[in-house]
Amino acid sequence: MRETTFVPETEIQRQRGIMEIVRAMADRPHTYYIVSMGCQMNERDSETVAGMLTEMGMTAAPAREQADLILYNTCCVRENAENKALGNVIWLKELKKDRPELKICVGGCMTQEKGMAEAMKRNYPFIDLIYGTHNLYRFPEYLWRVLTEGRPVVEVEQTDGEVVEGLPEKRRSTFKSFVNIMYGCDNFCTYCIVPYVRGRERSRRPEAILDEAKRLQDAGVKEITLLGQNVNSYMGGGAAFADLLYRLDALGIERIRFMTSHPKDLSDELIGAYATLEHLMPHLHLPVQAGNDDILRRMNRHYDRARYLDVVDRLRAARPDIGLTTDIIVGFPGETAEQFEQTMDLVDRVRYDSAYTFIYSPRTGTAAAKMPDDTPMEEKSRRIQRLIDRQLQITKEILEGMVGRTETVLVESVSARDGSMMGGRTPRAIMVNFPGTPALIGRFVKVRITSAGKNTLRGEMVANQGE
Ligand code: 5AD
Ligand code: SF4
Repeated sequence: MRETTFVPETEIQRQRGIMEIVRAMADRPHTYYIVSMGCQMNERDSETVAGMLTEMGMTAAPAREQADLILYNTCCVRENAENKALGNVIWLKELKKDRPELKICVGGCMTQEKGMAEAMKRNYPFIDLIYGTHNLYRFPEYLWRVLTEGRPVVEVEQTDGEVVEGLPEKRRSTFKSFVNIMYGCDNFCTYCIVPYVRGRERSRRPEAILDEAKRLQDAGVKEITLLGQNVNSYMGGGAAFADLLYRLDALGIERIRFMTSHPKDLSDELIGAYATLEHLMPHLHLPVQAGNDDILRRMNRHYDRARYLDVVDRLRAARPDIGLTTDIIVGFPGETAEQFEQTMDLVDRVRYDSAYTFIYSPRTGTAAAKMPDDTPMEEKSRRIQRLIDRQLQITKEILEGMVGRTETVLVESVSARDGSMMGGRTPRAIMVNFPGTPALIGRFVKVRITSAGKNTLRGEMVANQGE
């Protein structure tokens, strides 16, 4: 990893000054609505923009139709994510016809794709602001220009990106928080557009991360999830990822999680951390992508099937109750029926708690987009369906094995299906629904598991719990 560059404090002060100026403007937008697409990184970025909008005197609107400013934080990891973002933006054109004063902003990974911002400017002149992932910290300045210049602003930088500290934030949850530890990715997996839109790997300083975690803990946060495209290659101020985990664990925050990990960088120290750290939860998202060595090589993943399975064995030896989840791509260019069977076999061997499965989607500019691909889409669909069915069966068996246990659950939400049921997660991050009241949200409760559903557990609270 190269030397990290930090955006100077004076620049952040300048943006803070601009936020004050916008706040004082009488005809500025007063309400906002943010649509966050894609991964947790984007969700965290949306919290930063929400913080800036709040500093500029705006409040969150309950629905898009009621907002003076609508912001899309887009994703482009697969083509359908991009189509969804574009579809949504086109829909806004109609809204703007009725309310010309509406401000429309589009940011996130999609705007950072080569040629995309210019194409959007040409095709969707009703968008007021298009900005990228690298210059998010200058959002106040860009919005101020939109408000004063009265014409669209398009500002996307093609730098590798820097680290910015000290931006405002408006967190979505009071008890569960994301904490960025690094940005970007240097791996260049051949299918993946992320390194092109999020830039090179760069890590925050451990002190800044520890300060943030401490602040969150003091504010009552019970669970933090450390974020990075590849957290295992974190290297901040000489501290590796496992060192950072030890220091965070010592703070005493009840639950620590992280994502995403690359199997090639999973160190012995990190595996050891699973055996020793009290607050590190027994769950790991470890994307395998494919179960065949030739495919893994052509994906540029830098591990083979045997090495992945060895890591899994060592993790389970360190922490026998660890739950694993994964990402799998089906139908990578040239994937044969036999090669796909090896992915099926790997899923049987590892027995993941759950898996995110995707049909390969060619992304312009990536190496895999140029590889010949002669597998028909119907065949890819058949493959992914078989994989999904098999994983559902495994998930069911794992969940059924949990019936009768008592689990500590961090209560998150009222169940969408039934208002008298609450939902929360076990240490292994499995969702449990149980009868309860919203007053429990943000608290830990003991729940005895009574039955298993498709992806979730059901249970009932154990009486007489002290906290
Ligand atoms: N096509 C399909 N899936 C992809 N992913 C990343 N790029 C692509 C692509 N071009 C998947 C990978 C990754 C997850 C976030 O998205 O499985 O781990
Ligand atoms: Fe993409 Fe690979 Fe980096 Fe993950 S590790 S963001 S899949 S290039």
